[in-house]
Amino acid sequence: MCFKKKVKLYFSDSLGSLKRRLWPYKQVFVIYDARVEEYLPKLGLQGKPAYAIAATEENKNIKTAYEACKWLLEQGADREALVLAVGGGVTTDIAGFVAGIYKRGIRYANVPTSLVGQVDAGIGGKTGVNVSSFKNMIGLIKQPEFTWICPAFLKTLPEKDFLSGSAELLKTFILEDREAYEQAVDLLSAANRAPAAYGKLIEKAARIKARIVGKDEKENGLRRILNLGHTYGHAIEWYQHIHADEAPLTHGEAVAVGMVKAAALSEKRGYAAPGLESKLRDDFRRCGLSVDFPCPEQELEEAVAKDKKAEGGKINFVFIEKIGKVKVAKL
Ligand code: GLY
Repeated sequence: MCFKKKVKLYFSDSLGSLKRRLWPYKQVFVIYDARVEEYLPKLGLQGKPAYAIAATEENKNIKTAYEACKWLLEQGADREALVLAVGGGVTTDIAGFVAGIYKRGIRYANVPTSLVGQVDAGIGGKTGVNVSSFKNMIGLIKQPEFTWICPAFLKTLPEKDFLSGSAELLKTFILEDREAYEQAVDLLSAANRAPAAYGKLIEKAARIKARIVGKDEKENGLRRILNLGHTYGHAIEWYQHIHADEAPLTHGEAVAVGMVKAAALSEKRGYAAPGLESKLRDDFRRCGLSVDFPCPEQELEEAVAKDKKAEGGKINFVFIEKIGKVKVAKL
């Protein structure tokens, strides 16, 4: 049976227009990243019950989710309530999870304020929390009512977070849109962060992700391609965590390095023509992204080998045939 899941996105140039999307919901409870509090009045959310969280990987745990559930209960949120998540990927992951378990599941919607959130984490319904250093070990897939995307948030996004999102934006276009990829590289290398310049590219990337999730919500097949760059990217993040790295690469930066490695392996296997790796290296460097492993490669190979063992000896790896076309095969 072919089952298509509806993934609803709204795009807006102005923060003030969120209000109109909230009219159908009688009770709205905001769960937001304390760092984006200044945006709440601009979004027209003043007067709504609002709960701030410290949205870090360390706080992305069951205790934070439990406290948020307790707050919803104290506020009298019933089964008709809508949880509105305002923040980056950590916030939308936690708030979506809270909505998924509170009273056995109530509705939620995402207002991603980071670039990663707008093109990836805030779309597709993956929600959850970490268990000690293991990321997203408790969670569920639950689609938001909608994801509301406004590039105006990017004006105040810290540079490192912007770079992280840039990598996910490029990743999405490597999957299936060469022209948009080249446009994105030009824009990112020109260091032009005007929201107007990015709006169309963000919309394109968000729609690609929504379409992929719509076809394979539970990641039984197609959705796996969204993990391009993540096998080695996660290994880098793991290494940085173990070694308490003081200047760690962000998630997106680690994924960028992982994509360069994926290109190298694709050439080695003969899936891609020679030159792909060096093209990605040049492009990513121009965009200000990292391209080299921040640690000895041997350490990462060991982490990947461990993952492989846990998966029964082989893992699904996303290879790049050319920009705009990828292929999943066993590593
Ligand atoms: N971030 C990958 C996915 O949503 O499937």
